[in-house]
Amino acid sequence: MAKANDETHFGYETVRLADKQGLVDDVFHSVARRYDLMNDLMSGGLHRAWKDALVSAVHPPTKGRPGRLDEGSERAFAHLDLAGGTGDVAFRVIEAGGSGVHVTVCDINAEMLAVGRERAAERGLDDRVSFEQGNAEALPYGDRSFDCVTIAFGIRNVPRIDRALAEAHRVLKIGGHFLCLEFSSVDVPGLDRLYDLYSFQVIPRIGATVTGDREAYQYLVESIRKFPKPKLFVSMMEQAGFRRVSFTPMTGGVVALHSGWKL
Ligand SMILES: C[S@@+](CC[C@H](N)C(=O)[O-])C[C@H]1O[C@@H](n2cnc3c(N)ncnc32)[C@H](O)[C@@H]1O
Repeated sequence: MAKANDETHFGYETVRLADKQGLVDDVFHSVARRYDLMNDLMSGGLHRAWKDALVSAVHPPTKGRPGRLDEGSERAFAHLDLAGGTGDVAFRVIEAGGSGVHVTVCDINAEMLAVGRERAAERGLDDRVSFEQGNAEALPYGDRSFDCVTIAFGIRNVPRIDRALAEAHRVLKIGGHFLCLEFSSVDVPGLDRLYDLYSFQVIPRIGATVTGDREAYQYLVESIRKFPKPKLFVSMMEQAGFRRVSFTPMTGGVVALHSGWKL
């Protein structure tokens, strides 16, 4: 059934646009303390490889190359990880780059950010990363503030994806890179049925056992199915102003990495 303009999806449910964010916030509030453990359990650790691919594409600067004028110097690199939750992507970007790399994690959910701050302190990374509360649809940053913006497994939770893309574009510097890692559409015959079986039969049960919240993980698997297919998402990114937009499917299309530039 067609949606009215003020309606959207919350998993398979049709809800009012104005209500979606509150429902999403309840999900992540409920699972925050077990969020990282659940990622490992649900993906069999694969989320680490997907995030590593994302960070390779970010390619944060390390030291200047030997023999160059900037040899040994550390180039400042301002990175924004949107919907960055407990800081998983932020820590990987920092570890891959030199000391000039600073990451801002922006997330709407205070509970996810609190877990992230604790993890940063345990790793001694507090001065390299800041955790800030904000809505991806209306970012609290000035135009052209960041060299790179990433969002991993976050954008499908945002009610107005077009606004989040426009905001990511606005806060990027000219020449800046936007990368979006998100669940996608499995297109390998046989794997699709197996993936459906696993998603709908197994994941909500693991979620119920580990977090006590089956509905949160039912939402997760449904929201994945409602997310735009890669080619449609490419056109949404272009609409937001990104150029040289491309996507790379991984693990038979379970996830896709979209890339675009502000030129
Ligand atoms: C599945 S988690 C991903 C966390 C992290 N990026 C990762 O890959 O581990 C989704 C995150 O999106 C955040 N989120 C949902 N809606 C948001 C919004 N409108 N603005 C910013 N963050 C949002 C949630 O609070 C949650 O932390």
